[in-house]
Amino acid sequence: MSQVHETGTATRAPSGPSRDLKLAQLTKEYATFTAVKALDLVVPQGKFFALLGPSGCGKTTTLRMVAGLETPTSGTIHLGDTEITYDKPYKRPVNTVFQNYALFPHLNIAKNVAFGLERRGIKDHKKQVADMLELVELTSQAHKKPTQMSGGQQQRVALARALINQPEVLLLDEPLGALDLKLRRGMQLELKRIQTEVGLTFVHVTHDQEEAMTMADTIAVMNQGVIEQMGAPNELYENPRTTFVANFLGQSNLIAGEIEGRDGDLVKVRVQGAVASIPADRAHSESGKGWLGIRPEKVLIAEAGQPIDAPGDVITGGYVTDVSFVGVSTQYMVKMPWGQELMVFEQNTGARRMLPVGTKVDISWRPEFAFLLDASQDAKAGIEED
Ligand SMILES: Nc1ncnc2c1ncn2[C@@H]1O[C@H](COP(=O)(O)OP(=O)(O)OP(=O)(O)O)[C@@H](O)[C@H]1O
Ligand SMILES: [Mg+2]
Repeated sequence: MSQVHETGTATRAPSGPSRDLKLAQLTKEYATFTAVKALDLVVPQGKFFALLGPSGCGKTTTLRMVAGLETPTSGTIHLGDTEITYDKPYKRPVNTVFQNYALFPHLNIAKNVAFGLERRGIKDHKKQVADMLELVELTSQAHKKPTQMSGGQQQRVALARALINQPEVLLLDEPLGALDLKLRRGMQLELKRIQTEVGLTFVHVTHDQEEAMTMADTIAVMNQGVIEQMGAPNELYENPRTTFVANFLGQSNLIAGEIEGRDGDLVKVRVQGAVASIPADRAHSESGKGWLGIRPEKVLIAEAGQPIDAPGDVITGGYVTDVSFVGVSTQYMVKMPWGQELMVFEQNTGARRMLPVGTKVDISWRPEFAFLLDASQDAKAGIEED
């Protein structure tokens, strides 16, 4: 039987001091491979936390250590002041929802949801089951069998089955992975609603950056067993600290530059003949070579010689090499005089015509939106291959 039923029978501690989930120097080594490397992480109690990273970066391994399904090689796991590193899975106030739901096919929905309570010998659970089914909006489906339900409905049953145990922490390992895109979008909002309603700590693992940004209060971006950066979605997006984060969370233009140094609250960078100013709190390197980063939607574009509404320098001499119309925006590729192609996303306000391939253009951006990264990093890190 799936491990999901072996975990999370211990229930929530009474309210009191904070029950943040804390991972300290958590490491998992397999024979020839270190899957998780000295991970330090605090998941604040009651928050929706997303662990985001590409396939194989160690997300599931991390979750399995928190659930007690995998023994760490070293490091500790605490819930508040209580250490749980080596506790048996069923002793932890933690439940897991996996991608494949693992519902009991022979039990109806209500019985699936009641399972955890039954197992703890709680017989009078009618009201709890009814409340849970209401929470996940499946009251009318209580007597169906799992095979008679859609993927999204089964997913909600799995969620109700975990939540009824009142865990302190709910671990979700790509729970929406089996759903098609439209259903996924719906379920993301649904999950967020449920989390807000029950106020539990959710740790949600995903490799879908849009999913993480839609749902999470805090995102930790994981790469090759380490956390690259952690913060609120907009913080990470607006001010990435590594090329991996800049490319994995959305898309970025990274332009090679020579850092001239700090000047008050700004760091000056020489890029292709012009000098750009980067706010010091967005400059993650202060000398030598650097990558000047600018998000495609922050780049302003105009036909050569036309005014651009930006206070910074205008870079001339580009031309459009590709145009994609995607409804809300138009995405341009612009070849710059130094040979690099930059991405420029423009909102379709209708203010002016789409610029066809071959159009000579100027570009610019507001300096406060640029960021600066150390050039020792690979500019292509985190770009997902199709
Ligand atoms: N039992 C094991 N023995 C050896 N290596 C393992 C074992 N389990 C996992 N790994 C390796 O550890 C790394 C991390 O695996 P993990 O399952 O945590 O990745 P993940 O981030 O969840 O990826 P995905 O998004 O594909 O689910 C992978 O490279 C994997 O091959
Ligand atoms: Mg995984």
